This record gives sequence, structure tokens and C-alpha cells, in this order.
Amino acid sequence: MEAIYLRYSYDFRDYTGASQKRRVTHALGQLGLASISDLQERVLRDPAVFAQLLQFLTVPVSEMFRDPAYFLALRRQVLPVLETYPSIKIWIAGCSTGEEAYSMAIMLREEGLLQRAQIYATDINPVSLEKARQGIFPLEAVRGYTTNYQRSGGQRAFSDYYTAAYDAARFDPSLCADVIFADHSLATDSVFAETQLVSCRNVLIYFNRTLQDRALGLFHESLCHRGFLGLGSKESIDFSGYATRFGPLARDERIYRKAS
Ligand SMILES: C[S@@+](CC[C@H](N)C(=O)[O-])C[C@H]1O[C@@H](n2cnc3c(N)ncnc32)[C@H](O)[C@@H]1O
Repeated sequence: MEAIYLRYSYDFRDYTGASQKRRVTHALGQLGLASISDLQERVLRDPAVFAQLLQFLTVPVSEMFRDPAYFLALRRQVLPVLETYPSIKIWIAGCSTGEEAYSMAIMLREEGLLQRAQIYATDINPVSLEKARQGIFPLEAVRGYTTNYQRSGGQRAFSDYYTAAYDAARFDPSLCADVIFADHSLATDSVFAETQLVSCRNVLIYFNRTLQDRALGLFHESLCHRGFLGLGSKESIDFSGYATRFGPLARDERIYRKAS
């Protein structure tokens, strides 16, 4: 990880050991390599091999309206407050292939807020960001997304938002016309905008305590006075250095509000 950092500036040094070991072992098998030293040599010599390894290290999996109770809580408890702002800025950190950004955009449109919202959806994986920009998801997955959408308080037929062709669903491009999909690393970059809501789900689980605190520091710095922070279902700020700087808004749904 040290060598990757020096060669490519991607910083995986503060990711948790267990999950990284799993990813690297999986990558070895998939890339047909015998040992970590083989992998290291190939990766450092060939940027294309590093690009392949990145697909394993970053865990590019997502879902639309993942954990519907989270989106329901955003809809009921956070959007009515955001509505009081003349313009709304939302940061989706670790957006992967874009499902979370599309979910947010659909919800904002239904609540009449999309027009005045700017969403920044960021990630370190360029392949994922490109897929996110395209907004095309497997039709097979969309069945599950439809149930999630309905459980999250969705108000329409989910099929209103996409066009199905063959085995894929292309989501309405106007949903993400004002979404900026951009490269940003929580491990190495700094804050780029003042936001009212940061949603960073299923990303901090891969970080050790030091890196979790770095990311939470960025979110705290980015959020406006009394801004909102949403995390994944297995994540919490309770044991972090930021435990007292956010208060719970919807504890079970992992939504917090900036305290100071
Ligand atoms: C499991 S996915 C979560 C996707 C989405 N947020 C969700 O909950 O469905 C984790 C994402 O975090 C991204 N990620 C990993 N390290 C990161 C970092 N240092 N900065 C920003 N994103 C990172 C990965 O590329 C991956 O897309």
C-alpha cells in the first residue's frame, strides 16, 4: 500500500487490514497471480494492472434506495428543513456507480426541491464515476430497487424514471443534469464546498479509526451550521473523535446533525 501510494498517489494505507486482505486475495485469484509479491511487481510496473486492482480495492457495489428507512427518514425529517434554504448543496461521498445520487435526485424531484439542489457525487474509482454518469443499471437489479423505492416513501411508479431496453434501465438524464460526478478522495483531498447534507454510506467501514476521523473532519468542515450527516447502517460516529460534534437526528437510520 505504501508502494501504491508513492507510485499512484492512491492512499489505502489507513484502510482496515481484514477487508483489505480479503480484497487483495480475491484480486490475486481473479488476475491469475500466485503471490502478493507477483501482484506488487505487476501493479507497480503496469498502470493498467493497477487500474484492475483498483476495481477490487474499492468495493464498487451499491443499490438504489439502499436501506429504505434511511431514505424515508431523509424525506420526512431532513428535506423539510432543506426546503427552508434558497439553494441546497448535497455531497454524496463514495458514490460508487451512482445509485445513491439517482435515489437522492428522485426524492428531491418528488419533494419539489431538485431544481434548486446541487449534488456533488464523489468517488476515487474512475470506472465507477463513468458508470454513474451514464445512469444505466441492470434491469434485474431494478426490480429490487423498485421495492426499496416504494418502502422509502416513493410517490410514483418507479418505472416513470427509466426507460428499459433489453436487460438495462436507462435513468432519466434530467434527474442528474445538476449532479457533478467528480474524483475526490476522503484520504487525501480537502473540502471543496459548503453543504447542507453529506451522505456517506458504506464507506467508513473500510477505514481505520484515523481515516474515519479524517473523513468525519471533512464532513464537519463542509457542513453548514446545523447541517445533516447520513451514514451507512453499520456505521456510527459514537466512537469517533466527532461524537460530541454531531447529535443524533434519527439514530437507527444513522442520521446526525451538526452540533457546533
Ligand atoms: C461499498 S461502496 C458504497 C457505495 C454507496 N455509498 C452505497 O452505500 O451504496 C464504497 C465506495 O467508497 C469508495 N471509496 C473508497 N475509498 C474512498 C476514498 N478514500 N474516498 C472516496 N471514496 C472512496 C469506493 O470507490 C466505493 O465506490
